[in-house]
Amino acid sequence: MKTQDTQYVTQVRDDYDLLEPGQLDTWNPVHSEYELAYRLSIYHAATEALLLSQIPLSQLKVLDIGCGNGRSSRMYIELGLHPEQIIGVDVRTGGTINLARKLNPAIQFEAYDGDPRVYSGRGINWVSLAGVLSTIKDPEGRRILANQIYELLPPGGYLFYFELYQALKMVGGGRIYPLRIFSDFEKVWARPVRSYKYVPSLFRNADYRKARRMSVIQQDLPITILSRIKRTFLPTHEVILFRKPD
Ligand SMILES: C[S@@+](CC[C@H](N)C(=O)[O-])C[C@H]1O[C@@H](n2cnc3c(N)ncnc32)[C@H](O)[C@@H]1O
Repeated sequence: MKTQDTQYVTQVRDDYDLLEPGQLDTWNPVHSEYELAYRLSIYHAATEALLLSQIPLSQLKVLDIGCGNGRSSRMYIELGLHPEQIIGVDVRTGGTINLARKLNPAIQFEAYDGDPRVYSGRGINWVSLAGVLSTIKDPEGRRILANQIYELLPPGGYLFYFELYQALKMVGGGRIYPLRIFSDFEKVWARPVRSYKYVPSLFRNADYRKARRMSVIQQDLPITILSRIKRTFLPTHEVILFRKPD
């Protein structure tokens, strides 16, 4: 029996059972300009955010909520953290966590029931939330997760938020309002993300079309030179560094 707090988790699990069953990895940037754009832009944004942290890199303890196959967790290794500083968690109990463990066995990856407060007392001082709210259909579910993160973090702890402006089409789309959702936090830094500006202009995009057919991507415009140029100059995502007040 689910508590009211984690009811939306069923929706997330059901959607991903269809979208990405087992150890299927649709997030590989080879041939997918969307994935390449995501990866390059999140690395850029996370680097900027870490530079603003008043907690030294070596003292960070990251909880990567909604780690999926571990892409965002592995990013912290590339940016200078050690595996024991990172815990990746996801509500998907099947293949994705196994794949994450396989791709980096040194990081602790766990499937859980969606309430990050179970990680209280583990010294978490940096929560990473990348591409997660856009998969949650119920706006109340997003708010519940925000409150749980607030409770989990100590005063002075950070929340790195990297997300689409619009929720995924598969959960009904619609603008996500992070400043309202995380209104209890103070905003340290924010900027729009023009993710396509990092993609080489001659990049092939076969998988991007497939992702659009699967309704993973909100964008309905055909891939034309014009739409690529548009996505290079108009932001698709936003990054915000929040801090829990002292
Ligand atoms: C688009 S994926 C992003 C994965 C990863 N953060 C990245 O950047 O590659 C979103 C993930 O969030 C997970 N998710 C949604 N709500 C969650 C929650 N409350 N706790 C943990 N994971 C959640 C989904 O199962 C899915 O794997």
